[in-house]
Amino acid sequence: MTTPLQFEQWSHAMQSRIEHVLTTTMPADTETPITLHQAMRYAVLGGGKRVRALLAYAAGEFCGAPLAHIDISAAAVELIHAFSLVHDDMPCMDDDDLRRGKPSTHKQFGDATALLAGDALQSLAFELIASNQLSIEASQKVNILYCLAFATGSRGMAGGQSIDLESTGIKLSQPQLAHMHALKTGALMHAAAMMGAYTAPNADTQKYQAVDTFAKAIGLTFQVVDDILDAEADSATLGKTAGKDAEQDKSTYVTLLGLNTAKSLAQSLYQQALAPLEAYAQEADMLRSLASFITQRQF
Ligand code: IPE
Ligand code: IPE
Ligand code: MG
Ligand code: MG
Ligand code: MG
Repeated sequence: MTTPLQFEQWSHAMQSRIEHVLTTTMPADTETPITLHQAMRYAVLGGGKRVRALLAYAAGEFCGAPLAHIDISAAAVELIHAFSLVHDDMPCMDDDDLRRGKPSTHKQFGDATALLAGDALQSLAFELIASNQLSIEASQKVNILYCLAFATGSRGMAGGQSIDLESTGIKLSQPQLAHMHALKTGALMHAAAMMGAYTAPNADTQKYQAVDTFAKAIGLTFQVVDDILDAEADSATLGKTAGKDAEQDKSTYVTLLGLNTAKSLAQSLYQQALAPLEAYAQEADMLRSLASFITQRQF
């Protein structure tokens, strides 16, 4: 069993690692068009828990991939995530002024540049995977590209965001809410883990299956906890505006079930995430610790 200290050391090491990968793979803020590149770097660097990168690293290592091969997948999924946050915060969506403890990208650079920064971050993610910065077999790259593209599009994150907008002010049933959360947040978290796993050339099918089942459950857990934190935590701790869901009459697990039942649900989803890892000893410890971190996080 990994101790909390070991997990903390591992996660800090991986967070520094992904920060370095992102810093060095993104266009410099001195490169023309300077404003766009500044906005992209502003949206991505120096903030965020990097949970999706951690999922890619933990799942990749579980399946036997070398860390150096996981870097680009971890970076790509963080780029897509940052793009989704830039657009999520815009006035036409959640209209949020605060992100990662700083003014949101559109507050800092204006709506038009924020829109373009999101677009360009999305393209950069796919460009990095296809580029020679990722030196794995072409067939593995195709799996990784497919996985990320699917999770980002209308059957994944963008689709979930669309359902979120359409459901504002409406009471969804629990299956409908689970579907929305699985798409808007779960899909990208699932992709993060699968991309890490697909980086390993010869992992056995059972391991891929374990990561798949684990990641679906933990992706949903993540958004249930996000809903709880929105209702319970303060903006300073979250680094984003608290109480936004109630203010905007969003459909969330807290509005559907109440705080206590939403918390019990997060616990049972966490247990569901651990179940497929039961067959594995130490090699799955980081995935287990990460699941616990996701469930217990305070921001
Ligand atoms: C926030 O995600 C948006 C959701 C999908 C709920 P995170 O809580 O992972 O945001 P950062 O990356 O740590 O800022
Ligand atoms: C956003 O969900 C999910 C995304 C795809 C960005 P939220 O709207 O709840 O995320 P926060 O609370 O603003 O981070
Ligand atoms: Mg939103
Ligand atoms: Mg939002
Ligand atoms: Mg939220």
